[in-house]
Amino acid sequence: MDWLFAGLILIALFFLVVVFVPLIYFSIKYRKGSRADRSNPSAGSDLLETGWTAFPTLVGIGIFGWGAIIYFHQQNPPADAMQIQVVGKQWMWKFQHAEGAREINELHIPTGRPVVLTMTSQDVIHDVFVPAFRVKQDVLPGKYTTEWFCPTKPGIYPLFCAEYCGTLHARMGGRVVVMEPAEYERWLSSGPPRLSLAAAGERVYRELGCSGCHDQQGTVRAPPLTNLFGRTVALQSGEVVVANEQYLRDSILLPGTQIVAGYENLMPSFQGRISEEEIMEIIAYVKSLSERKSP
Ligand code: CUA
Repeated sequence: MDWLFAGLILIALFFLVVVFVPLIYFSIKYRKGSRADRSNPSAGSDLLETGWTAFPTLVGIGIFGWGAIIYFHQQNPPADAMQIQVVGKQWMWKFQHAEGAREINELHIPTGRPVVLTMTSQDVIHDVFVPAFRVKQDVLPGKYTTEWFCPTKPGIYPLFCAEYCGTLHARMGGRVVVMEPAEYERWLSSGPPRLSLAAAGERVYRELGCSGCHDQQGTVRAPPLTNLFGRTVALQSGEVVVANEQYLRDSILLPGTQIVAGYENLMPSFQGRISEEEIMEIIAYVKSLSERKSP
C-alpha cells in the first residue's frame, strides 16, 4: 500500500515537472515583446501524439494492475485467520473474541496472526479505520463486511470511525492493543470467565426455540444445521447460494426470502427479537457445527 502510494506521488511529480517546466520556459520565451521566432508554427507531430497517448495509457493500466493485486489480497482473508466480531453503534465499537472476551472501543490482539473482523452496525453507517494497518472498511446496518490485517509489532494503534455518523462521530474510536502472543493469552484468561462465542450462541439458540425445528430429530420441518456453514445450498427458487455469515444472518431475520429446496416457508422472522451480538453468537454456533471454517 505504501509503495503504491509513493508510486502515485512520484508519477504526479513527474507530470508536474513535464507540465510546469515547459510552461514557465515558454511563458518567458514568448512573453509579449520578446524577439523569439514566431514564424512556421508547428502543425502537429504523429510521434508526439502517439507518445502522449500511449505512455499515460500504459502507466494507467500499470497502476490499475498494481492496485487490483492489493485489492484482491485485501478482500481475501486467510482461512486460518483469528475471528473477531464487531458491532458499531452511535457512538461506540463493540468487539467480541471467539473465546468469549468482550471489549468496548478497545481491541486486544496478538502479533504474527492474521485477524479478520466481521462487522455490522446497529444503526447507521460507520467505518473501521486503523491508519497504522492501512485498512479502512465501511460497517453497514443489515450486512456483514470484513476487514483483515496481520499485526507484526506490539504497540497501541489508534482506531477511528471514518464515516460521518452523527453528533459524536469525531469521538467514535478507540485503540488496537497489539501484544506478544504469550501476553495476549494472559490477557485473554485474565478477564471474568465467559462462555465462548459458540457456546453463547448455542444458549441463544435453545432460548429462542430454534432447536425445536433445527435439531436432528426435528429436521422434517427445517433444514439441519450440521455441516451447513461453508456449503452450497439449493433454494426453492432454483438458485444456489453459499452458506456464509450473510446467508445465516438473512435466514434468521428474513427467513422467507431464501427458502431451502424441499422445505416450506414456516420460520418466523426474529427481527427485533434478537440483538446483533446474539446473531453473531448463533452464527458462531452454527460454524462450530461445521468442519469448514470459511466459505
Ligand atoms: Cu461512527 Cu462515524
